[in-house]
Amino acid sequence: METIQIAIDGPAGAGKSTIAKRLADHLGFAYLDTGAMYRAVTWKAMKLNVDLEDEEAFGFLSQTRFDYIKGSLTLDGEPLGDEIRSREVSNNVSLVSSHQSVRETLVKRQQRLADNLNVVMDGRDIGTHVLPDADFKFFLTANVATRAQRRFKENVKRGIHIPLEDLKQEIIKRDEFDSNRTISPLKPASDAIVIDSSNMTIDEVINTIEVKVREEDSNGFN
Ligand code: DC
Repeated sequence: METIQIAIDGPAGAGKSTIAKRLADHLGFAYLDTGAMYRAVTWKAMKLNVDLEDEEAFGFLSQTRFDYIKGSLTLDGEPLGDEIRSREVSNNVSLVSSHQSVRETLVKRQQRLADNLNVVMDGRDIGTHVLPDADFKFFLTANVATRAQRRFKENVKRGIHIPLEDLKQEIIKRDEFDSNRTISPLKPASDAIVIDSSNMTIDEVINTIEVKVREEDSNGFN
């Protein structure tokens, strides 16, 4: 069976996860959050007390399992919870995701997870590296103030309290790191549709994407 793959990339706080998840629900597709996988690896590395700067220390990845079970990603058989959204994990995940061997391993796992699924996958390098042949590629952006504000609200809902200005500085730092790393830096694929969501509601963005997907898809998936 032909499957449909939708790649959604963009910087932190552009609304990718909310949008990708709801889009997947609307279309009846699986949703794979690749940022959650980098976060989970960071969380596990911190738990194992390894030196995060030392790429060699990530050998534990060969004994680390990711599965997609009943609509959710699991790490070593356990569902991923809010522990991967902590400030410590957020501030270390860029470093961890800049290690080449970590990326190579996770990209392979992500490709395997997406295989044979109708899927919406979000991240930084989905359209450029993970699913270069995706049927649809979107790159979501928004200005830093809007993104910090969105993260702030998301955090409040989760009971995490980080001052807005701190969040803004952390986002700027993470963007800078993610955009300038040598391996798979954050950038739109040449064939991605770029959507600036600064002045759009989440529903407007989802609608824009859904209209394009439904218009252009010739497989009649619904
Ligand atoms: O989307 P997020 O903020 O949860 O992602 C966490 C970090 O993981 C982000 O700083 C960059 C990294 N990441 C990546 O390098 N490649 C991906 N495909 C997804 C996330």
